[in-house]
Amino acid sequence: MATMRAMQFPEPNAPLQLVERSLPEPGRREALVTVQACGVCHSDTVTGRGLVPGLQYPRIPGHEVIGTIAALGADTDGWSVGDRVGVGWFPGACGHCPHCRRSQAYACDNVHGATGVTRDGGYASHMLADISALAHIPASLDSIEAAPLMCAGVTTFNAIRNSGAKAGDLVAIHGVGGLGHLGIQFAAKLGFRTVAVNRGRDKEALARQLGAHDYIDSTAGDPAQALQALGGAKAIIATVTNADAMQAIVGGLAAGGTMMLIGATGPISISPLELLSKNAGVRGWYSGVAADSEDTLVFSELHQISSMNEVFTFEEAQAAYDRMVSGDARFRVVLKMD
Ligand SMILES: NC(=O)c1ccc[n+]([C@@H]2O[C@H](COP(=O)([O-])OP(=O)(O)OC[C@H]3O[C@@H](n4cnc5c(N)ncnc54)[C@H](OP(=O)(O)O)[C@@H]3O)[C@@H](O)[C@H]2O)c1
Ligand SMILES: [Zn+2]
Repeated sequence: MATMRAMQFPEPNAPLQLVERSLPEPGRREALVTVQACGVCHSDTVTGRGLVPGLQYPRIPGHEVIGTIAALGADTDGWSVGDRVGVGWFPGACGHCPHCRRSQAYACDNVHGATGVTRDGGYASHMLADISALAHIPASLDSIEAAPLMCAGVTTFNAIRNSGAKAGDLVAIHGVGGLGHLGIQFAAKLGFRTVAVNRGRDKEALARQLGAHDYIDSTAGDPAQALQALGGAKAIIATVTNADAMQAIVGGLAAGGTMMLIGATGPISISPLELLSKNAGVRGWYSGVAADSEDTLVFSELHQISSMNEVFTFEEAQAAYDRMVSGDARFRVVLKMD
């Protein structure tokens, strides 16, 4: 019997467990992917900590996957065994399938499922993916370097390009972690005056190297006032994992500006007066679909945007996950498969 190896969470708040499972057969519209690399995203804590009610365990996390197609099920025209593909977090609520159109559910698990959350992901030698979740990978992109583009990349690229900001506008990237360090590169290359905002000054030099034109230490004073001193932000791309930090920066929006909420934090409270006086807005942003991932990959190839990665072996998945949670990684942790 053919087998695969995986690192799974047996239950919430338990360590990852190395297991051998029988190799699954791809069903209709599914591909079996041999995983080459998988990024470790802060959102893997959704599975690790059981942050969404009703999750099923054991569950293999990982939604920044690059690999090659090992086998295809029925109705998979357009894809071939051997194709190099990426699989992202989506489609949580893809918005396209009948289930999503009806329920606007967090995850349309009857059809696609959120990779690594409601269906098994890429901390594994192999994984099954719905073909609607597959993105083609440009030949010049290295699999390990490209893996974080499948979530951290597409989420920030997509949020920035849908924020309403226009070339030359001031865009603040709030948080300089896995998502934020890619967001800085995208914003700068998309033609925005790019301001990085983070706690302390540890990451300032790297943020500037990545393309930030300005840097705000959010602990040195009021970050909203600091943004206003620069003219106010047409977009704030909020990738921090802390609600208080997010709330503290809303006042930095310019007239007509939009705050794009990406970090999955607890509640924040915002005064309607604060927003209406400026025609400003706050909007949640959820990753993207395969076409968005392909746009992200092509843009990254064109502009030499890449993730700065700390690479761990598959067997070191627990250490890799812990390193991500510590916040000390510069900037993305990636698992390299054997
Ligand atoms: N919406 C989506 O589709 C989507 C997709 C992917 C990820 N996410 C979410 O986006 C967030 C970021 O993910 P990531 O992988 O980039 O995480 P990460 O690499 O751990 O980065 C976290 C960032 O938050 C900052 N931060 C943490 N605690 C803070 C605090 N108490 N005050 C101020 N700043 C704080 C960190 O600053 P320091 O450098 O000072 O530690 C760092 O800049 C997570 O919540 C993740 O679940 C959402
Ligand atoms: Zn992610």
